[in-house]
Amino acid sequence: MGTLNIEPIHPEFGAKITGVDLRDTPSADVVDEIRDAIDDYSFLCFPGQPFDDDRHIAFTRLFGEPEASHVKLGQEGVIDYLGTIGNVQDDGSVLGNDHQRTRFQTGNNMWHSDSSFREVPTYISIMCVYEVPDEGGQTEFISQRAAYGRLPDTQKETIDPLIAIHDYVFSRSKVGPDAVTPSHAKSLPPVQQKLVRRNPRTDAANFFIGSHAREIVGWDYEDSRQLIDSLLADASEAEHVYSHNWQPGDLVIWDNRCLLHRGSGYDADKYRRRMRQSRVQGAGSTLTE
Ligand SMILES: [Fe+2]
Repeated sequence: MGTLNIEPIHPEFGAKITGVDLRDTPSADVVDEIRDAIDDYSFLCFPGQPFDDDRHIAFTRLFGEPEASHVKLGQEGVIDYLGTIGNVQDDGSVLGNDHQRTRFQTGNNMWHSDSSFREVPTYISIMCVYEVPDEGGQTEFISQRAAYGRLPDTQKETIDPLIAIHDYVFSRSKVGPDAVTPSHAKSLPPVQQKLVRRNPRTDAANFFIGSHAREIVGWDYEDSRQLIDSLLADASEAEHVYSHNWQPGDLVIWDNRCLLHRGSGYDADKYRRRMRQSRVQGAGSTLTE
């Protein structure tokens, strides 16, 4: 019998976890339990865990190597393991809808897996929630594992060996022509990722796409788009979506190896939003999984 009290929150994935105070550094056994819950449920919400940045980083390190923000690294050459999701800045200033940084974050309103455009994509993202808008600002999640499971066997066989190209400049070209600075673009050349991944512990399979997935290696662009777009269309039908209504004090972990997520937008002129996010690097390139 484990320490964690696990309550599923959607028929396909996700759980609310109580029975543990994460501010006391969890024991190795509890960390193992959380790792298993990540493998099994993909999305974990621990409500009522008031954190700060130092605790957040220490907690992140329990699960592996923190991932440096590609934005700060690509634009300024600076390593930063925590990023702000929202419009309240570190100096207390609040950015409105028209600010370039607010507009840039609208790129996250497309279904994506964090850092799928990096050679080593993200294992998990960890969000600590401080301030949320009175309306809007939910984040939606879908399971590419559940969606893969719904495919006919013949289609599974077709897509199992495929490799996709993930490209940050491609996905951000939809936000605007100058969304990515030249140094940032240069730091993120397109990468190859397996189209179908398997959880290393449970062997559960999922496809791995999202907004950064540009095309399939060896396929022409039109056929590539048709496949990627049709996989996403099925995965994101309303009944398969879990929409998370953030609450201050939530600590949320999600598994980027198999989930996609997207922001739903909020009125940054009217509301404050401050959530801090860290990420843990994956075990390696998906091509070697
Ligand atoms: Fe994201």
